[in-house]
Amino acid sequence: MLKTHTCGELRAASSGEVVHLAGWVHRRRDHGNLIFVDLRDRWGLTQVVFDPNINAAVHELAGKLRIEYVIRVVGLVRMRPPGLANPKLATGEVEVAVQELEILNEAKPPVFAINEEIVPDESLRLRYRYLDLRRERMQRNLTLRHDTVLFMRQYLSQRGFLEIETPILFKSTPEGARDYIVPSRVHPGKFYALPQSPQQLKQLLMVAGYDRYFQIARCFRDEDQRGDRQLEFTQLDVEMAFITRDDILDLIEGLFTELIPAVVPHKKMLTPFPRMSYAEAIARYGSDKPDLRFGMLITDLTPQLAASEFKVFRQAIESGGVVRAIAVPGCAGYTRRELDQLAEMARAQGAGGLATLALSPEGIKGPAVKFLSESELEAIVRAMGANQGDLVCIAADSELTASKALGALRLYFRDALNLADPDLMAFAYVVDFPMFEWNAEEKRWDAAHHPFTMPRQADLEHLESDPANVLSDAYDLVCNGYELASGSIRIHRSDIQQRIFSVLGYSEAETRERFGHMLDAFEYGAPPHGGMAPGVDRLVMLMADEPNIREVIAFPKTQSAVDLMTNAPSEVSPRQLKELHLTIND
Ligand code: AMO
Ligand code: AMP
Repeated sequence: MLKTHTCGELRAASSGEVVHLAGWVHRRRDHGNLIFVDLRDRWGLTQVVFDPNINAAVHELAGKLRIEYVIRVVGLVRMRPPGLANPKLATGEVEVAVQELEILNEAKPPVFAINEEIVPDESLRLRYRYLDLRRERMQRNLTLRHDTVLFMRQYLSQRGFLEIETPILFKSTPEGARDYIVPSRVHPGKFYALPQSPQQLKQLLMVAGYDRYFQIARCFRDEDQRGDRQLEFTQLDVEMAFITRDDILDLIEGLFTELIPAVVPHKKMLTPFPRMSYAEAIARYGSDKPDLRFGMLITDLTPQLAASEFKVFRQAIESGGVVRAIAVPGCAGYTRRELDQLAEMARAQGAGGLATLALSPEGIKGPAVKFLSESELEAIVRAMGANQGDLVCIAADSELTASKALGALRLYFRDALNLADPDLMAFAYVVDFPMFEWNAEEKRWDAAHHPFTMPRQADLEHLESDPANVLSDAYDLVCNGYELASGSIRIHRSDIQQRIFSVLGYSEAETRERFGHMLDAFEYGAPPHGGMAPGVDRLVMLMADEPNIREVIAFPKTQSAVDLMTNAPSEVSPRQLKELHLTIND
């Protein structure tokens, strides 16, 4: 080793020892007579001092040091003079009086400051990611990520789970995104697909008898990038056989309730994790990934307004819809413009409009007041438990649209009024999802989770006749408005699996070609099984209080799926194209 200690290690007890340190010049202060350098490695900072009285040649060489030079020093640990200790630094009581200095490498001035809190422009950060990763915040995030994954591995290994790697070059595994495909050189015109998740493989491992599997698994999805999405990301992929839904929910709940205090002790949780149905999440929070850190729940006013003279409400109810509302504390004084903005947000979710009632000291105010009777207004206030100063926002529409519009407003007010405790991680399970979703564009049913999910036993009989009302044994773990994990009990019978594919509109030949291996496997003794997959990147993002998933990934891609450091994706040589039997049409 070129060093005996890390830059975060020395304490008063080492005073009097001769040590070797190596690292980067984080800061330097030249006091003419004395030169001070904060030497940095990933463990911390240590102040080293160059004194001409100790070694004049070394002091002179130190005059050449610049920020981010890589150096090695040998010196004597000593206490800093009285009053000069730095309590903010773990090594702040001591300094190293340098006897030998070696410049291991010079460095150009960094393109952005590494020794300051300011956050540089993101495209620069991504282009020079190796410099960006030197920043303390990034070190903290990657360390947290390591601690998290280590904890997961230990937690599951202690419970008899085996970590098994599955291939990256595989066949299309649908999770609702486009596949990344890799052309085969050996088989002209044929392609591998990168797995969107190891879903099929982990199920095949259950058929193989490897009950209790996990993997820190890379997944690849060609879909629009967002703040909480990358095209390649990591899941803690878990699968178990011979279990019920609650076994897997309990396992993952146990993991998270132990993980959070172990790796982010300042975070609070609500335990046990609440469990609610998809229908309840939509009705009360207007979202299938509810943020439970604050109230402002949605109230259904349909019974109170079923006979209303107000045609907007009555028509919505008569056509099978609902009238729903949230009460927003302290916002009765909103201006016309602010109210228009709220209505605009509701419309952006597909709602026809938004009615607002301001509970002002002079009575209830708002454009809709004149359409509502005294007793209806009273019933609304009572049903909502609304108070003086509240702004009641009402949406009349189909159930899903009204709820989603109010759900979006609820999140807007969360941020505008600072309603959510940033140190709370409010986990909750959402269960009993619909099995299918109508794809209006392609006029067919999609699997709401994935096609390997077991429909609820009671709904099997109307699988084909009424897909809209088939619920599944799928579940999500949500936290603070994010979907953190998804899973389901799986189909383990070939006949049911075939029926699902046929509702999804796959022909028999297509089903055979794409999923024949699954159907075959289910005929060789497949045990009942189920599992779940928490997104590691998303989890670490929440634990680290980062607004963007890129902050917890060492080498992420941009919003437009580019690696700015290497410029991937990039062109390949004509020879490579030829070998792969590809021609480019542009
Ligand atoms: P699902 O597709 O819901 O389920 O993914 C599970 C979890 O993975 C994370 N995730 C992502 N993270 C970052 N970027 C993305 N593009 C991205 N997509 C998903 C989320 C999500 O909750 N095979 C099933 C799991 C199962 O049924 O066991 C699956 O992949 O945190
Ligand atoms: P209008 O009859 O379109 O003039 O609307 C009268 C009031 O009802 C206005 O305050 C609208 O913002 C409100 N409104 C319109 N559509 C809806 C809706 N779908 N839900 C709730 N309020 C609505």
